[in-house]
Amino acid sequence: MNNLSIRPLKKGENLPLALLLSADPSEVAIQLYLPDSTVFVAEINNQVIGEYVLYRINAQEVEIKNIAVDEVYQGKGIGKFLLNDAARQATNQGFSRLTIGTSNASIAQLYLYQKHGFEIYSIKYNFFVDNYAEPIFENGIQCKHMIMLSKTLN
Ligand code: COA
Repeated sequence: MNNLSIRPLKKGENLPLALLLSADPSEVAIQLYLPDSTVFVAEINNQVIGEYVLYRINAQEVEIKNIAVDEVYQGKGIGKFLLNDAARQATNQGFSRLTIGTSNASIAQLYLYQKHGFEIYSIKYNFFVDNYAEPIFENGIQCKHMIMLSKTLN
């Protein structure tokens, strides 16, 4: 999409809350990682249609805590574009490892991340059962475990 642009959200600007919640249904969890994160928004004609959130884990490693594309714009390669942009940002900031977590039931996300070079390195068993008030289902499967994936940056 040639009219797509990505930029960090400025201080005081409205958060793309609906998008953040589409990737992570717990606003409490989101509010915990946002203060130590940078939110990047993707815009088409000045309308925010996607976002990703980068959270510094340590001097080497940064995590994509949240990534989402507006439903209307999904399936057009924007998710792929955001992932590549996150890797570029992280590389430019001097990080050597990019991490992302998703649920055992998030089939499309597991496909997308592995196709773009992320490899599973650990599983946080019962993460969604223990940390979320309501059971979450995707693709008719309960989201129970958080699958952690990472990619080495060049
Ligand atoms: N089932 C199977 N494959 C799917 C799919 C689905 N529901 N949705 C996308 N894909 C595939 C595409 O076919 C494409 O594969 P290809 O490169 O082989 O053609 C690949 O995934 C990337 O698709 P893309 O169009 O770049 O992704 P997107 O713009 O739809 O964004 C998400 C992907 C995950 C960011 C988007 O679906 C989304 O916002 N989902 C809701 C929030 C969410 O779950 N965030 C992640 C939390 S871990």
